[in-house]
Order: sequence, then structure tokens, then C-alpha cells
Amino acid sequence: AKDPVRVLVTGAAGQIGYALVPMVARGIMLGPDQPVILHMLDIPPAAEALNGVKMELVDAAFPLLKGVVATTDVVEACTGVNVAVMVGGFPRKEGMERKDVMTKNVSIYKAQASALEQHAAANCKVLVVANPANTNALILKEFAPSIPEKNITCLTRLDHNRALGQISERLNVQVSDVKNVIIWGNHSSTQYPDVNHATVKTAAGDKPARELVANDEWLNGEFISTVQQRGAAIIKARKLSSALSAASSACDHIRDWVLGTPEGTWVSMGVYSDGSYNVPAGLIYSFPVTCKNGEWCIVQGLPINELSRKKMDLTAQELSEEKALAYSCLS
Ligand code: NAI
Repeated sequence: AKDPVRVLVTGAAGQIGYALVPMVARGIMLGPDQPVILHMLDIPPAAEALNGVKMELVDAAFPLLKGVVATTDVVEACTGVNVAVMVGGFPRKEGMERKDVMTKNVSIYKAQASALEQHAAANCKVLVVANPANTNALILKEFAPSIPEKNITCLTRLDHNRALGQISERLNVQVSDVKNVIIWGNHSSTQYPDVNHATVKTAAGDKPARELVANDEWLNGEFISTVQQRGAAIIKARKLSSALSAASSACDHIRDWVLGTPEGTWVSMGVYSDGSYNVPAGLIYSFPVTCKNGEWCIVQGLPINELSRKKMDLTAQELSEEKALAYSCLS
């Protein structure tokens, strides 16, 4: 039998946490033959609720779940973890300035970076979900210099999956037959959902999604804005932000990273830019990646048209501004 993998979920008493931990315990994240030990972290006001989640995990009698650590102690939470899914953070509340929210999150991610650096297992893979996801990941990277930068990522897979969903609905095809959309940039409304390289499996082979949709006005307009604004649409409908889809996408992100992407398929991940596609180096930016042997690699050489270039630059610009804001909160 395989040794259990230790998976940390921060903010585990929250909405995404509640959807995510049973998925991890059921093998959705790491596979149906991989035992797991869950480490759940939250803050003291949520300790009782966190303990309730732990009770439910016991009650669910998951065969793959070999242990549960539920704690408000960051060091205990981070000790020995192989995968860290960072969902905890300080949400923006009505009337709060961007800078105030950033200050709170910068201090959370700075502290948790140090705990991970000192106590996590070697080669721990980190996925930041909490917003501002890209910039929280960047702060985590900066304050955990001994964790390889390739191990620190943020979640844009939800946006990627939303884009697949929109194409599938529009063409009335199975979502599993659509692939290779791209989310470029920030997990925010400036993200660029790019359909120019996406394909759809048909009886006559793979066809470009753009050709099948055959409506540039929709693809260049409503498609992009629907994906960009989907988070807000969910909040409007549910009065709560997306949780099951975020949790499911977080599992997709880690699963593909650890177990590999299928041949000929790429996915979107927020990763530390090396300057590919002229995206400024030193930002955490969402790129198309393939994964193999537990490592991601940016898909190179895709042709970028003028419209795409503009949108890729716009979201990079926003990330540079967020980075500057985050740094100003440190001093
Ligand atoms: P939530 O408010 O229900 O849960 C957040 C949890 O984090 C709470 O239990 C809270 O007590 C905890 N927390 C706060 N500070 C913490 C700290 N320092 N350490 C550990 N835990 C801490 O929020 P929800 O809906 O679960 O969302 C979580 C985050 O994910 C938010 O920042 C949200 O904006 C973000 N998000 C990101 C998405 C993405 O695609 N990247 C998609 C959806 C949400």
C-alpha cells in the first residue's frame, strides 16, 4: 500500500474548505488508490466549526482517510505536509479599501510562508486559492525562499473550467470534448480567457472551437466577459461565492500537476513567470501548462494575435500594480 500523503487545507472551516476536504478524502485530488492525512487550519474564532468538520470527516468513514489534524496552530498545520492548499484569507468587506485588504493578506501569507518553509515536507507543492490569489502566492514565494519557485502556484483552473463550460454550452457538446482554452494573467476580472487555440472533438476529428462557434462577435465579447464576470454572477445568484466549483477545480489543479496532463492537453495554472510570452518575469501569472513527473512546463510557441497581446498586457499591468501595492504594505 502507498504511504499517505499529507494535504493541508487552510481556511478549512469556510465554504470552499467544506466542499474541498471530502473531495480530498474521497481521492478526487490525488487518485482513488492514494491514502491521505488531512491537515486543516483555521483561526481561533472558527475553531469550533473546524472541529465540527473534523467530526463529520470521522462520521463519513472515508476509507482513504488515514488521519485528521484540525488546528489553529500554523506550525502544527504545516508540519510534514506534501501538498498545501491555501484557502484561508481575509475577505474584502464592504467599504474596505483595497490597501487594507492587501495589508491583512500580505501579513497572513508572509507568516504562513515561513511556517511552510520551515515545517512542510521537502518538495511540498503549494496552491493558493484565497484572493488576491496571484499576489498572495507571490508573497508566499518571496517569504519562503527555500521552497523552489516551481512549487508555488495559484488557482486559475476554475476560470479555465468555466471557459470550457461556456464553449460546451454554446456548441451543445460534452465539456470533456472541449480542450486547450487558456486563462492568461490574473484571477480577477482582467484575466484573458483565450479560445484561439481551443479545439473540440467531433466525429471528423478535432476542430478549432473558433471555427465551430463561427461567431467572432460572441467569442471576442460575451464569451470573454461571461468568464471574467462568472464569480460575480454566482455571488448574485447564491448570495455566496462559488465553492463547489472552486473546490473541484483545486482538485483538478493538484491532480494534473501531480499525476500529469493527458497527451495533447494543456491546462491553466498561475505560476511564477520566467518571461515567457513577454510577460514580465517575477509575477505569478496564469499560463497554459502541461504537467509531467510532478512538474509543470509552460506551453511555448503559441502564436499570439494583436487582440490577445493587448489583453495579456492589460492583466500583466494589473498584476504589476498589485505587486507594488503588496510591497508597499510590507513597509
Ligand atoms: P470563507 O470566508 O467561507 O472561508 C475562509 C476561511 O478562511 C474562514 O473559515 C476563515 O476563518 C479562514 N481564515 C481567515 N484567515 C485565516 C488565516 N490567517 N489562516 C487560516 N484560515 C483563515 O471563504 P471561501 O468562500 O471559502 O473562499 C476562500 C477564499 O477563496 C476567498 O479569498 C475567496 O475570494 C477565494 N476564492 C478563490 C477562487 C479562485 O478561483 N482562485 C474561487 C473562489 C473563491
